Amino acid sequence: MDFLTNSALTTDADPGSLLSVLTRALRGHMPERYSDYWREAFDARVREALVPGMRILDVGSGRKPTVARDQRPPGCVYVGLDLSAKELQAAPTGSYDEMVTGDISHRVPELEDRFDLVLSFQVFEHVKPLESAMENVRSYLRPGGRALLHLSGAFSVFGILNRLLPHGVGIFLLKHLVGRDPDTIFPAHYDRCWYRALKQLGGHWSYFEVLPRWRGASYFGFSRVVRAVYVTYEEWTVRSRQVNLAPYYLVDAAA
Ligand SMILES: C[S@@+](CC[C@H](N)C(=O)[O-])C[C@H]1O[C@@H](n2cnc3c(N)ncnc32)[C@H](O)[C@@H]1O
Repeated sequence: MDFLTNSALTTDADPGSLLSVLTRALRGHMPERYSDYWREAFDARVREALVPGMRILDVGSGRKPTVARDQRPPGCVYVGLDLSAKELQAAPTGSYDEMVTGDISHRVPELEDRFDLVLSFQVFEHVKPLESAMENVRSYLRPGGRALLHLSGAFSVFGILNRLLPHGVGIFLLKHLVGRDPDTIFPAHYDRCWYRALKQLGGHWSYFEVLPRWRGASYFGFSRVVRAVYVTYEEWTVRSRQVNLAPYYLVDAAA
């Protein structure tokens, strides 16, 4: 089971007051933004960006490429880059036309100007310094190439807990409360992973959009009461546009 899926939930088009959000969440009804699959906004942009023959770099793709082999356009070249050779090798056979082992924050001159699309799903919160990583992504794109990145927010409730708790305790809780496989949990830095800091990284790009994604409740599915309290807090952040507190960000940028 995907750890962010909970098919038992229903969603509300009009959640009403915050008190009503709380009472409805206690009964298992979530705000409307929870109606689709949690990564659908990212996946939809990726699908729309795919073009036959394109060259794609998947940053931090590890054992799970962002676009599975059978979903790729014809003639596409798919390169996986990851800090860990072991993670890349754990991917399904034939996932990559080329594997690059390295840190995205360290420039690899051979990758410069090579790609039409750079993808990255849930990786940039693990990267430091993020500024160098973003500049490398830009340099690996051809002029006009696009980057689609999805990452966790530094000031999300989960992101704060993740930094406060020792790594081992975090792994224990994620395994036992959220059902995460410990092999898929990596240390996170959250360097510049909030709205205002991300926007500031866009200066050298021709287009740079940062979209807050308020979908953090799945971390709290172990208790209906805790999840309801979280969703009410998250709803407040949405309504008061606390964009620096979002649990996730989608960055859609053009070089
Ligand atoms: C949470 S996993 C995400 C894997 C995959 N993108 C997915 O959707 O399941 C994070 C991945 O990023 C890789 N990673 C962490 N820091 C990195 C860095 N600085 N440069 C490149 N890859 C990194 C890890 O080795 C791991 O494979």
